[in-house]
Amino acid sequence: MAVERTLSIIKPDATRRNLTGKINQRFEDAGLRIVAQKRLHLTTAQAQAFYAVHKERPFYNDLVSFMTSGPVVAQVLEGENAVEKNREVMGATDPAKADKGTIRADFAENIEANSAHGSDSSENAAQEIRFFFSDIEIVG
Ligand code: CMP
Repeated sequence: MAVERTLSIIKPDATRRNLTGKINQRFEDAGLRIVAQKRLHLTTAQAQAFYAVHKERPFYNDLVSFMTSGPVVAQVLEGENAVEKNREVMGATDPAKADKGTIRADFAENIEANSAHGSDSSENAAQEIRFFFSDIEIVG
């Protein structure tokens, strides 16, 4: 499996509880490198655009409100099989279903405030990375 990149977002519930470092440690311990990172407060338009794929879902408006409720940390993670590895480290979307020892099992508050987002495929990763970062900001 080749080295690939994925987009990760540490969500407002986690930044509010000062968990950025603890979550980053999980990524690094799993062999993922943080090759780009920035903290930002998303506008409503930005959150709507990022989650446009979910706009018909019943949770869309709440999700946009939550994602704009505080700062997030957007990051590019790089490593072997990074998309899948990141999803393993995060655990299931619903923390009640996430395996023990995963970020969401250990830190998430609920299915919405679930501490971290990770791209679900390498195609979406490329698109999501472009949403937040230019090439010059990614240093492998
Ligand atoms: P994320 O990986 O960021 O992708 C979409 C987000 O929608 C998801 O994590 C959850 O935080 C949020 N969400 C809220 N309710 C649901 C739901 N019922 N099913 C899936 N995702 C949900």
